[in-house]
Amino acid sequence: MSLPPGLSFASPAPGWARALADFDVRAFGRDAWPFEQWVQELASRRSVYIAIVREGGIAAVPEIVAAGGVGLGPEAEVLTVAVARKERGRGLGGALLDELLARARNGGAEDVFLEVRSRDPIAQKLYSGRGFAAVGLRKGYYSDDDALVMRLSMGEAS
Ligand SMILES: CC(C)(COP(=O)(O)OP(=O)(O)OC[C@H]1O[C@@H](n2cnc3c(N)ncnc32)[C@H](O)[C@@H]1OP(=O)(O)O)[C@@H](O)C(=O)NCCC(=O)NCCS
Repeated sequence: MSLPPGLSFASPAPGWARALADFDVRAFGRDAWPFEQWVQELASRRSVYIAIVREGGIAAVPEIVAAGGVGLGPEAEVLTVAVARKERGRGLGGALLDELLARARNGGAEDVFLEVRSRDPIAQKLYSGRGFAAVGLRKGYYSDDDALVMRLSMGEAS
């Protein structure tokens, strides 16, 4: 899917760690990754991060509208997907996930796994719409919820 006018995909540079950590707190609250984890993640060669940003700003780091990451390998893993609250429900989560899955496929993924809150039907709909199916449950994975483990077999992905 192409993005709405004024938005574009970007590859976050290491210097975006603070902006991503702040974005993450707004999206995930207490489940957000700390700044130090973002520093490590952006430096990792085993994962790829993608942001959707607003075009045309003058700040060193553009406004982050959505951000996600995928761990690469034959068994890839969607590490995070989040869209700014006021931008949800207009396809950005799906567009970001499609981009992450394309990167996973280019990285040789045969299967892609992820964890999602058991009580988050919107996120589950996003993933099941892309062909992910529930394959397990991790009890108490989140501080206040269980995680559904979902898998996408790349051979079956459209
Ligand atoms: C989950 C999340 C990334 C979805 O982003 P989004 O931009 O709203 O997603 P989209 O607009 O692409 O919609 C994805 C699917 O959810 C559905 N959906 C979106 N908002 C919905 C709503 N309020 N009610 C019901 N369904 C909804 C869409 O219809 C779409 O389904 P489809 O693919 O079958 O058409 C976003 O809600 C978010 O950032 N949540 C907080 C962070 C989070 O929980 N991330 C997931 C961690 S595993």
